[in-house]
Amino acid sequence: MPSLLFEQGEPGRGSDFVAPSGAPSDYLDSALLRGDLPLPDLAEFEVTRHFVALSHRNFSVDTNFYPLGSCTMKYNPKLNEAAASFPGFTDLHPLAPDACAQGALKLMWTLERTLAALFGMEEFSLMPCAGAHGELTAMLMAKAYHRDRGDDKRTTCIVPDTAHGTNPASAAMVGYKVVAIPSTPRGRTDLASLRAALDDTVAVCMMTNPNTLGLFEDDIIEMTKAVHAAGGLMYYDGANANAIVGLCRPGDMGFDLMHLNLHKTFSVPHGGGGPGAGPVGASAKLAPYLPVPRVVRAQPAGNSDPTETYALSSDFAKSIGPVRVFSSHFIALVRAYAYIIVHGAEGLRRNSELAVLNANYIRAKLKDVLTVPYADYCRHEFVCSAETLKRETGARALDLAKGLLDAGVHAPTMYWPHVVPECLMIEPTETETKETLDAFVETLRALVKQAHEAPETMAQLPLHTPVRRVDEAQVGRLANKGIGLRWNAEK
Ligand SMILES: Cc1ncc(COP(=O)(O)O)c(C=O)c1O
Repeated sequence: MPSLLFEQGEPGRGSDFVAPSGAPSDYLDSALLRGDLPLPDLAEFEVTRHFVALSHRNFSVDTNFYPLGSCTMKYNPKLNEAAASFPGFTDLHPLAPDACAQGALKLMWTLERTLAALFGMEEFSLMPCAGAHGELTAMLMAKAYHRDRGDDKRTTCIVPDTAHGTNPASAAMVGYKVVAIPSTPRGRTDLASLRAALDDTVAVCMMTNPNTLGLFEDDIIEMTKAVHAAGGLMYYDGANANAIVGLCRPGDMGFDLMHLNLHKTFSVPHGGGGPGAGPVGASAKLAPYLPVPRVVRAQPAGNSDPTETYALSSDFAKSIGPVRVFSSHFIALVRAYAYIIVHGAEGLRRNSELAVLNANYIRAKLKDVLTVPYADYCRHEFVCSAETLKRETGARALDLAKGLLDAGVHAPTMYWPHVVPECLMIEPTETETKETLDAFVETLRALVKQAHEAPETMAQLPLHTPVRRVDEAQVGRLANKGIGLRWNAEK
């Protein structure tokens, strides 16, 4: 049976399915209509079946368990979507005058204050579109801060060796030289090495806490004090904030700048479901550098009229300026706001507690079959290693991940952070049931057993996915150079 849309159809089949548009013909530029394109002529049901079949190949958190470490693939409540679909939001033009956008501006203003209270920052900007964009925005702010003080020799950015690749990339993009700090055998950033790297060239130190091994940096107060004493700034990568909401605050740990991934911690869809949002928070001394426009609130003098008015203002002399067109990925903000008000302070804290509990549950259930390199309790995620398994059977972390696909589970993050060989980083999130966690554990344990009993079968996995094992080396090459996204009859 022909599977591709282009191989189906017959002339005339689709003629009654696309109704004539009714647009006057002089609106159609005939030069743009190309008769030579071999477009298939299809009935409506053929097109429907094709796209529904494609949608079934899409993996999502709405269909299956998605324990992708450092990504917080939690369930996205449908209530968020209902709020994001209010016509007052969806029909609002980004250039609408402030007077016509009071509801949207009030939502943004309130969300900024809520995030500031939750994370101990003075102010937030909702402008950046993703975590990496938030990092870049914050690095530009750090640069502007030092420049403003005439401190031109600060050209270095410190990152732990477990940092996400976007950290050094963001620092390098603003021209900082990146210095990596090694981890201790306990999986924490080495305080002594950090101290040794501090001098008057350090502009900023970027930290993720809990770090990307899922471990809380218990020297964090000493670290922020040491960096501040050297004249540097502390930046908090909030990608792992799902472990800490309502439990502790980066501002109280001494951070000057931070980003959040609303699409992780606050249940905004991401991956194929984006767009996300990466708000940046700043302490009092960094807040003047936040990007513009900013939402401001004007309360009429004397409070005689209780009506508050909100406006977008670019009147901030020290601001680094805009970091994108318009004010934000507004619909992502609505989803996050809905999630926050539905859960409340108590619910948000409970979610973080459950995220940590779920990760520790899986960790405890796997530690006798896979190496768990760090003995401490983890936070919302943990890293385990298939190094011993590989030595004993030849099976790798990659094989286990491929085997999970057959069970309808998204693979965990693999081979990162680089400090743990053959690692899988597992983040179950709080939204999964005990039954799902148990089924995942059983599947992984069964795969380890299979590796011991029939190691030669492991490289065959997955057996039941639409595309089986791909040639990793070739994928790498094609993804960089030879990617071909167009259908081609000859191939
Ligand atoms: C620790 C960490 N920092 C930063 C980022 C970048 O965030 P985004 O993907 O939203 O750009 C990620 C993304 O996975 C991350 O895990």
